[in-house]
This record gives sequence, C-alpha cells and structure tokens, in this order.
Amino acid sequence: MKGKNKLDTESYKGVRDFYPENMFVQNYIFGVWREVVESFGYLEYGASVLEPAELYVAKSGEEIVNEQTYTFKDRGDRDVTLRPEMTPTVARMVAGKSNELSFPLRWYSIPNLFRYEKPQRGRLREHWQLNVDIFGVENGEADAEIISIAYQIMNKFGAKDEDFVIKINNRKLLEELFTHLKLDPEQTKKVSKIIDKKDKISPAIFEASLFELIGDKKTELIDLLSSNEKLLDTLNKNAGENGSQNAKETVELIEKLSSIGVTNTVLSPTLMRGFDYYNGIVFEVFDTHSDNNRSLFGGGRYNNLTELFSDKDIPAFGFGMGDVTAKDFLEVRNLLPRYRPQTQLYICNLGPEFLNHVRSMADSLRKAGLNVAIDLSNKKLGDQIKTADRQYIPYVICVGENEVKSNTYSVKDMQSGEEKRVKLEEIAGVIKR
Ligand code: HAM
Repeated sequence: MKGKNKLDTESYKGVRDFYPENMFVQNYIFGVWREVVESFGYLEYGASVLEPAELYVAKSGEEIVNEQTYTFKDRGDRDVTLRPEMTPTVARMVAGKSNELSFPLRWYSIPNLFRYEKPQRGRLREHWQLNVDIFGVENGEADAEIISIAYQIMNKFGAKDEDFVIKINNRKLLEELFTHLKLDPEQTKKVSKIIDKKDKISPAIFEASLFELIGDKKTELIDLLSSNEKLLDTLNKNAGENGSQNAKETVELIEKLSSIGVTNTVLSPTLMRGFDYYNGIVFEVFDTHSDNNRSLFGGGRYNNLTELFSDKDIPAFGFGMGDVTAKDFLEVRNLLPRYRPQTQLYICNLGPEFLNHVRSMADSLRKAGLNVAIDLSNKKLGDQIKTADRQYIPYVICVGENEVKSNTYSVKDMQSGEEKRVKLEEIAGVIKR
C-alpha cells in the first residue's frame, strides 16, 4: 500500500512515459523517418517548444487555437503557447532568413507537439511528428516528391500498397465548386467546415447541416461531391475552352505519382484538412485495416504562410506524420521489430573480488565498440544471469578465478544457449557477428 501524501506515479493525462521498450519503438520509427527523408536530401532543423501565442491565431484555424492549445502567461505577461504543430514555426524560420537561404529548401524535423485533445486511440495531448517540407517550388513536382516520400516511408516500414490509401484533393477545386454554386464568403467558410467533418457525422446530419446553410443548393453540392467525373466535368465546362487549370493540375499530379510507382491514390474532393493555411493540393494517408480504419497522416500546399512575417510569399508543400498513429499502424500489422536493448553484453562475477578485473575487461570491450554493462549486485550468479535475461541482453559472460587466470571466457548467447570459449581479444568479434 502506498503511504499517505505520496505523489501519483501516473503521467499527466494524455501524455506518455517512455520506458526503455517504448523508447526502442520510438527510436525505430524515428530511424526509418530519418533514413528515408535524408535519402531524398532533406536537412534537419529544430526550434523551441515555446512560441508566442499570436503565431497560431492568423492561419492555423479556430479549432486549434481556441480549443486545443496549451497557452499561458509568462512572468512578463506575454501569451506563450506550447507548439501544437511545426508549420508556423518553420515558416517563421524560413521567412526570417529568406535572403540568406538558398532555395529550394528541403527541411525536416521531429518535434514534440502539444494539443489539448480528448485522449483516445491515435489522439493524445502530446505526440512527436515528422515534418517534411519543401520551400521555393511552386509547381507540382514538389507535391509529387513530398507525396512519394510519404509513400516511401510507408514502404520502408514494410507496408504494402493495399495497406494504405493516399487521398488527394485540391482546395482550389472546392473554391471553383463554391463559385459555381454562388455561395457567399461566409457560406463558403461554413460549408468547408461541414465538408471537413463529413466522415465524422452521419449522412443525414451532413445533409441537414448543408440545407440549413445553403438551402436547396445542397442537392447539387452533394451530387457533385459524390462523383469525381461529374465534378471535374462541371468545373471544366465552367472554365471555358481550356478547361479548369485546377482540375488539370490535380489529375496530372495523380498521373505523375502513378508514373513513379505510387498508384494507391484516390481523388477525394471532400478531403479538406483543417488548417486555414492550405491553399492548393492537400493529401492524407489512410489505413485500410478494418481494426485501424483511420487517417494516419497528411499535409499539403501552403503558399502564403510566410506572408505572416514578410512581404515575400514563399511557396511551400509538406506533411506531418505522428508517432502515435504510425505505431498503431505498425502494431495492427505486426510490423514492429522485436525489442532489443542497446546493451550487447552483461558481465557477471563469482564474487566482488573479481569486480576490478571485470571493470577493466569491460573498458577494453567498450573501446572495441561494444555496449557492456557489469553486474554490481553481489547477488548469486544465477540471479545475476536472470537480470541480464529479464533485460533481454543478448550475451552474458561470467568471470571467476578460472577466467582471470586463463584470460579465456565463455560467451553465452542467451537466445540459443550456445557458449563459445574465447580470449578477451576475440570477444568483440563473436558478439558483433
Ligand atoms: P495535422 O494533420 O494536424 O497536420 O497533423 C499531422 C499528423 O500528426 C496527424 O495526421 C497525426 O498523425 C499526428 N497528430 C496530430 N495531432 C495528434 C494528436 N493529438 N495525437 C497524436 N497524433 C497527432 C499538421 O500538424 C500540419 N502542420 C502538417 C504539415 C506539415 N503540413 C505541412 N507541413
């Protein structure tokens, strides 16, 4: 029983503690992220978790700012926010040095982010998010590169094409559609929000909410949103002789992706993505597994965000991929590697008088590149070995008088039970194999 006045050992609601086995999974995920994005020439940047609250007010969207940020007053009466996303930060950094930086910039980061959400599967109050962004390229080649990086990450994790689908939309298509329906700016804004929520509400509520806002125009809206062919036809007709540029741009992107091997894409005109700063192509990767049928991650084009800081518009395209949804995806599909600690060797002793010898042995093995822990417990040998076993350390050596005299040691492989007797100089070779 816990004594009175003891603090709770639970972490704060909605955030996680990372015990070594959790850390192993996280490092694995981060490792795959880094490997793929660096292979495309993306450079890592970083920034503080603290940002002035005003950074999010203009462009992140009402829901994030009013309901989801951790904002507080600092001792100097300034409003400070724990960053809920990285995009405004990176836009600030790029705008701040736009004269010195050489474009196009390919940048990535893996920040810890904070959102005051109702904790649930895939949604916590803290997560880590890979951000991959390209600045300075206006054409669809950048969109295709970023989406293909997203695809390659899934591929590196061991996902097959049928395990996920990449939904693609263009916000400008919707703008054209709203113009076609002659919606006013207020209606446009509200209808966009309803479309954004479409998959979270029932068709009846979706229809009723639209009716309330735009009356009978809802019938044509729903009709066009439910058929890509009809939608593109209508927009092309409205645009006149050359057809709709935006429709063309969107279809071309999907074709380009297909030509570079990314074929699990689908045009989804109802895909909005919440943030106000997106103003072109948006995309979102969805899990197709019935036990985890949800959005995994997404991003899009945001050409005007640097406008917040300077007169220069720097075109940008990027995405954010969270570690929580990535881990759920990998778990459901059994794609996570088995836990292995970084420690490779545990050296036990037959008595404290051998500790000095063990220590100097460990030192020389560390110099040879091994990660070595030594037992300091004075416990029985069997218990020392059990410690190594419980920590999944793959190799064990026990040191007593014989070993010290002969300078020969039995290296035990804990998984197979096999033992090899070797000289000190040979130990690293046996273990590294
Ligand atoms: P977002 O869709 O808000 O976009 O977040 C991207 C991803 O981060 C989500 O799809 C999910 O994987 C993860 N994520 C977000 N919130 C949570 C949460 N509360 N708990 C767990 N995971 C979460 C953005 O943040 C954009 N700034 C991404 C971006 C970068 N767009 C362009 N560049």
